[in-house]
Amino acid sequence: MKFLKDLKRSHLCGDLRASHVGQEVVLMGWVDTRRDHGGLVFVDLRDRLGIVQVVLNPAQEGTQTAKSFRGEYVVAVRGVVRARPEGMVNSKIATGEVEVEALACEILSEAQTPPFQIDDPKVSESLRLKYRYLDLRSPTLQRNLMLRHRVAQLVRHYLSQEGFVEVETPILYKSTPEGARDYLVPSRVNPGTFYALPQSPQTLKQLLMIGGMDRYFQLARCFRDEDLRADRQPEFSQIDLEMSFVDMDDILKINEQMLRYLWAELRKVELGEIPRMSYREAMLRYGSDKPDLRNPLEIQDLKKVVEGTEFKVFIDVLARGGEIRGFAVPGAGEVSRSQLDKLTQTAKQHGAKGLVWIKSEASGQLTSVAAKFFSPEKLAEIYTTCGGEPGGAAFIVADDFEVTCAALGALRNQLGREYKLLDESQDRFVWIVDFPLLEFDAEAQRWVARHHPFTAPKDEQLEILTENREKSYPQLLAKAYDLVCNGYELAGGSVRIHRHAVQQAMFRTLGLSEEEVRHKFGFFVEALSYGTPPHAGIAWGMDRLTMILCGTEAIRDVIAFPKTAKASDLMAEAPSEVSRDQLIELGVRLIAPREIES
Ligand code: AMO
Repeated sequence: MKFLKDLKRSHLCGDLRASHVGQEVVLMGWVDTRRDHGGLVFVDLRDRLGIVQVVLNPAQEGTQTAKSFRGEYVVAVRGVVRARPEGMVNSKIATGEVEVEALACEILSEAQTPPFQIDDPKVSESLRLKYRYLDLRSPTLQRNLMLRHRVAQLVRHYLSQEGFVEVETPILYKSTPEGARDYLVPSRVNPGTFYALPQSPQTLKQLLMIGGMDRYFQLARCFRDEDLRADRQPEFSQIDLEMSFVDMDDILKINEQMLRYLWAELRKVELGEIPRMSYREAMLRYGSDKPDLRNPLEIQDLKKVVEGTEFKVFIDVLARGGEIRGFAVPGAGEVSRSQLDKLTQTAKQHGAKGLVWIKSEASGQLTSVAAKFFSPEKLAEIYTTCGGEPGGAAFIVADDFEVTCAALGALRNQLGREYKLLDESQDRFVWIVDFPLLEFDAEAQRWVARHHPFTAPKDEQLEILTENREKSYPQLLAKAYDLVCNGYELAGGSVRIHRHAVQQAMFRTLGLSEEEVRHKFGFFVEALSYGTPPHAGIAWGMDRLTMILCGTEAIRDVIAFPKTAKASDLMAEAPSEVSRDQLIELGVRLIAPREIES
C-alpha cells in the first residue's frame, strides 16, 4: 500500500484565498468537523495553517469514501478552489471566502473518537495534558509554538549579527546555584556520585569568557526543582548571554535593542527607551521588584501625615522606624464588608497584622475601620495623601519595609485587576537596578546572595565585602538588573565578579568554608585566577517572553510538552518508577517514604 496514494500535497489548508479560485489543489489534514447536507458532505479540513471548507459528493466517483469520514481522520483531498456562494462567506476564518470542491479523496488514517473536541475551552487541563498531542492540534497551541519558533529565529539572528557565538553547554553537570533545589542524576560508571542538571549555565558561560569566547549566547535548557506557579516550569528555556570587556550599560543597551527588534518584528510596535528604576523605588512605589506598570495605582508614604496622631498601631510602627504606606483605588468606595475581609486576608498572607481602610461613600462621607482614632480632618488628610478621590477607597499597611511592600504590592495587583484599571493597550517595560547584593536568611541565620554568588557589588562598596564589614551588608548594592514587563520578570543578570580575591571574599561572606568552596566551585575559583576579563551577562526567560508575545498567562501554553504543578508529565507518566535491576546498576537504594517521615 502506498501511504499517500500517489497524491502530493500542493497547498496548506489555511493558505487558500480568493486568489486561488479556479486552481486545482491537493490538501492533506485532519477532519475538524463534518456535516451532511442535501447529499453533500461538508468538511472543515484542518492543518497547521488553519481550516478550509471542502465540499464532497459521495455519490460521485473518486469521492465515495467521504461518507466514511469522521472527526480527526487524516484525509487527502484533490479538488478545485471556488468562491463561496454569496451569503455563505465566513468572515471568521482566513479562508472564509473560498471552499474546495472535491474531485477525489482518500482516507490516509482513521482515528478513534478523541476524548475531547480539539480546542474546546471547557476541557479540563489534566485531560488536555494527558492527550497533549491532540491538544497540540488546536489552532491556539499551533500558533503559540510557531511564534516561539519565530522568537528563537529572531534572537539567533540578532545576536549572531552582534558578534555573539552560540555555544552548547552540558546538561549532565554540577550544581549551579540559582536558589532552587537541583535535579540529580546518578552515575553508573562512578557509583555513589551524581551529576546535577544545571539550574542555569551560569558558571559555564563565565568559563567561556575566561576561555576567550568574548560574546556567547545559547537557548539554554535549565532545570529547577522549586515550587511551580503559572509562570514557572521545572524545566524551562533561557536566552542566555554573556559578554566580555563590558559594563552594565553595554549589556542593558544591547538587550534593549534586541527587545526593540523583537517587538518591531512580532508586534509591529516601536518601543521607546526603557526606563530604569531602583529596586528601592520600585518597592516603595509599587510594592514589588517586578511592578506591573500598566496598573496606575501608586503607593504613598503616610509617615508625615500620621505623625502626632493617637492610633497606637501607627505610633508603634513609627517608633520602630517602620513604614506606613497606602494607596487609593478610584471607584472602590462601595467595596463590601466581605470584600474588605478578603483584602485583609491578602494583607495578612503577606505578613501584615492588619489592613486599615478608608472609604469615600456616595454621600461624600468618609468611613474607616480606624475612624475613631482620627479627627474627621485628619482622616480626610490621610485619605487625600493616599491619592484618594470622592467615591474611592484607600488601603493602608503599617509594618516594617518588607512586609509593608509585600502586602501593599499584592493588594495593588489584586485591586488593579478587580477594578479593571490596567491599561492593556500596550506592554510596559522597566529595568530594575540597584538590587541589594545580600539578603539575610533568618532561618539559616546567614547571608545569601540575592541574585547569585557571582554578582559584583558596586565598585565603591567593594571594601565592605573584602573587609567583612557585616554591619554594612544591608547597604551593599549589586551591579544586577532585571527586565520587567507587565509584572513579569522577563530577564535578569549582572556584572560578574572577575577577580579571584573578591570571589573568595564573597563565598566567605556567604558562610561557605574553604572546604565547601573547593568542593563546589574549586574549578571555577581556580579558573578566575588565570586571567579573567571583566564580564557581564543576562538570561531571558524564553518561555515568559513567548507567553507575553502570545498574550497568555499560562507558561504551559507556550511549551510543547509541559509539566503539571506537581512537576509530572501526565502523557508519558513521568517521573515513574524504575526496575530494581536499574537501581542495582546505579548503586541506588530507595528509602521508603515512611522512613523519610520518621
Ligand atoms: P534568573 O534565575 O533570574 O537568572 O533567571 C533568568 C530568567 O529565567 C526565567 N526563569 C524561569 N522561567 C520559567 N520557569 C522557571 N522556573 C524560571 N526561573 C527563571 C525568568 C528569569 O528572569 N544565571 C542567571 C542569569 C544571569 O545572571 O546571567 C539566572 O539564571 O524569566
